[in-house]
Amino acid sequence: CGIVGYVGSNLAYPILIDGLKKLEYRGYDSAGVALHTGNALEVYKKEGKVAALEDFVYGKNIQATVGIGHTRWATHGVPSDRNAHPHYSNSGNIAMIHNGIIENYAQLKSELQQKGYTFASDTDSEVLLNFIEDIKINNDCSLEEAVRVALKRVVGAYVILLIDKDLPDTIIAARKGSPLVIGIGNNAHYLGSDASPMLAYTKEVVYINDYELAIVRPDELILKNLGNERITPFVQKLDIELAAIEKGGYDHFMLKEIFEQPQTIFDSLRGRLDAEHQHITLSGVDKIKEKLIHANRVIIVACGTSWHAGLLAEYVIEELCRINVEVEYASEFRYRNPIITDKDVIIAVSQSGETADTLVAIENAKKQGATIFGLVNVVGSSIARMSDAGAYTHAGPEIGVASTKAFTAQLALLYLIALKVAYEKQTIDQTLFNKLLGDLAKVPQYVQDILEEQDAAIQEIARKYADANDFLYLGRGFNFPIALEGALKLKEVSYIHAEGYPAAEMKHGPIALVDENLPVVFVATKDSYHEKIVSNIQEIKARKGQVIAVVSQGDNVVAGLADDVMVVPQIHEIIAPILSVVPLQLLSYYIGINRGLDVDKPRNLAKSVTVE
Ligand code: G6P
Repeated sequence: CGIVGYVGSNLAYPILIDGLKKLEYRGYDSAGVALHTGNALEVYKKEGKVAALEDFVYGKNIQATVGIGHTRWATHGVPSDRNAHPHYSNSGNIAMIHNGIIENYAQLKSELQQKGYTFASDTDSEVLLNFIEDIKINNDCSLEEAVRVALKRVVGAYVILLIDKDLPDTIIAARKGSPLVIGIGNNAHYLGSDASPMLAYTKEVVYINDYELAIVRPDELILKNLGNERITPFVQKLDIELAAIEKGGYDHFMLKEIFEQPQTIFDSLRGRLDAEHQHITLSGVDKIKEKLIHANRVIIVACGTSWHAGLLAEYVIEELCRINVEVEYASEFRYRNPIITDKDVIIAVSQSGETADTLVAIENAKKQGATIFGLVNVVGSSIARMSDAGAYTHAGPEIGVASTKAFTAQLALLYLIALKVAYEKQTIDQTLFNKLLGDLAKVPQYVQDILEEQDAAIQEIARKYADANDFLYLGRGFNFPIALEGALKLKEVSYIHAEGYPAAEMKHGPIALVDENLPVVFVATKDSYHEKIVSNIQEIKARKGQVIAVVSQGDNVVAGLADDVMVVPQIHEIIAPILSVVPLQLLSYYIGINRGLDVDKPRNLAKSVTVE
């Protein structure tokens, strides 16, 4: 979910709506605002995207300079008007929005029901709100005090923003486990799940930490811990520009972000890769160098696309550094009671730096003595702050829900880390080291070439296959993670069922699906397994499957076999995957567009999953 808030002297509503649109990537099944008009609270909420809320509010009373807003990604209760936030408390005197999950809501709810409380929604959020109200009434205390007492009993993750009829110029906010940023304006404060809603107004922000509570007024920001002690806010200056989160002439963020990759990959390598002098600078790696060199294991923890980047890193780090690597789905790892020692290094890979499962997984591992390295895109995010060392991917804000430029930036950085550790550990010879550095430096230009030369052809291929019901994506070795990522991308933005598989393993099941209606995408660039994958292509052709192949320039063998090809420049096989994924991103995008879908905001998904 995305949350926003405003206290100041301007009209709150347009600022809230504008902010919600910037946060819509976090969830978009319903949206709502609560406004404080000076003597009353007005709540407007609607199922659907923020635009539906705007239509609904049109012509209503929006005269307020204080308000909170929410865009939802449903957890408890279907997307609907009544489950949308904000919620009113039973008395109608308090309105609240919530991002996160209250785990002990059922128990709290039955306690409240026994006291006569009723609930207008199925959400855990409304339970928390009434729990707070009940404490406020029983203890005859301030809202701030009631929030503090309530949060001590709440199990789960939350960011909450509340407004109270009796406090016309105040928002009370608190967080644990879900992100909250407060921007400092001119006699105004802005609240958001990330900094994007406030960028147009201020660059000075405070990142709120877990177990902190903020009392926010136009001219005042008071931070406290749950023990009611004041904390001095740490004000940071942002260096993101508003333009970075706007579409800049492209039809969709996804397309813009795909086309930004020559620049973003360059940015992730900048100041770090010096191919000319054969040197890699990564202060985060230096900081835990001894730990890495002597690591018993490197465990990569991530979700979704970031997990695919981790899977490729497993191949690369094992190959180059001769360190044992495990790649773990954060959601499984955190509950599995894994065996971790202080000789393990955890690499947490995350675009947002806020994914709840990844965050808790590293929290647990840290308690068991592991060293945490964060590979994160969003500066100042929770995972970045929890890590012992790390490196930012520097891909800039990624808005399209399906990750593209963040993925290639993750790969670029993971290559650098592997190469640096291999160099320090002396598990790589100088010739290969130089070759890989040189090839890595060429990647931004090569990605540019792919975008320029293949875009038109890929649009054609997308038109041809847009009506397929299923897709199979196959790859071997370094390209296997790319087959998985290609399939995920297609699922996300086209709703076509797609499966990624190791090309040879396909014989043990998926081959049963093959007939003349099944498009099979091969990631078949020239590498040490090339002949093997050519055989796999033959196996599919023999069963009348339609083959679309990502091939290296000049590879006439695969080009001759395949029905359609997407060509990428030839490069060392270890580096090749960062190129192979680019045509697959475009293919998914154009298939999604052909099917008339909202590729930037696919149904049911959210960009940043801050619930487990
Ligand atoms: C969500 C997004 C994916 C992303 C995953 C992990 O599912 O839709 O695009 O890969 O979360 O997110 P993270 O921010 O941790 O990389």
